Amino acid sequence: MIKHLRSAADLDADTATLILDTAAEMAALSGREVKKLPALRGRTVVNLFYEDSTRTRISFEAAAKRLSADVINFSAKGSSVSKGESLKDTALTLQAMGADAVVIRHSASGAPHRLANWVEGSVVNAGDGTHEHPTQALLDAYTMRSRLGRLDGLKVAIVGDVLHSRVARSNILLLSTLGARVTVVGPPTLIPLDLTDKAQVSYDLDAVLPDSDVVMMLRVQTERMQDSYFPSAREYSRRYGLDVPRLRKLPEHAIVMHPGPMNRGMEIAPEVADSPRSTIVEQVANGVSVRMAVLYLLLGGK
Ligand code: NCD
Repeated sequence: MIKHLRSAADLDADTATLILDTAAEMAALSGREVKKLPALRGRTVVNLFYEDSTRTRISFEAAAKRLSADVINFSAKGSSVSKGESLKDTALTLQAMGADAVVIRHSASGAPHRLANWVEGSVVNAGDGTHEHPTQALLDAYTMRSRLGRLDGLKVAIVGDVLHSRVARSNILLLSTLGARVTVVGPPTLIPLDLTDKAQVSYDLDAVLPDSDVVMMLRVQTERMQDSYFPSAREYSRRYGLDVPRLRKLPEHAIVMHPGPMNRGMEIAPEVADSPRSTIVEQVANGVSVRMAVLYLLLGGK
């Protein structure tokens, strides 16, 4: 088993499949009245969040607690970080407290890689800048597999602000490792130039929809935009928003995903987000099982 999960590129097909299979076993647990397993009793998991988060932070906390680990939640607000303490000094403090795993979200791409040099425990990337978010990709893959029965050969469209999306980057890596075929769709200004050979590119959403098994909508990340990347929100949503007429262009079996938080009415219409084809709430539930599997396997669970 790998020690750290810094990037979806840390995962080969066997390791990723083992995580998804283990997550399925963890999911069986959440239907029980007592949801706890003793697997990580006596181990300490630190959640180190330098950036805002709702789903991911709560999900990691729930996952660690269901495995009976001791959980320390650290958010940069209200800590010595606001006094200017460096990531390295914070890491050494965590080290002194004996953290077995550190889950980190940081606005700087590469922060988890640096952290892994300074602590002895496992490091899990919970989102670093515009770089990666590997557990989101795992929970997305889990959701696709459980809804559609397979990943190999699946046609996945990832739509919108790909440029700023760590979710897209990790999904492209993981999905191609697992044999799915990814097409990224968005305005040319929001599609990165360094996509390599792992994904196809299209600027025409209407053309891609009829041939997709999965359509994953991305949030337009205005907080990461210094320039204007498209004329207006209305124009964006006219060309790249998933509304009801566009939903009808998808094959019958296709699912609609979004990592959240959503800009309802911009990249996704409320009726689409709340439709039976949408897996948005399911993705959140699956996130807990997948993060349980990740913590369990990284920390040497049997
Ligand atoms: C994403 C993130 O923070 O990277 N959300 C999440 O983790 N569920 C996507 C986003 O912020 O748009």
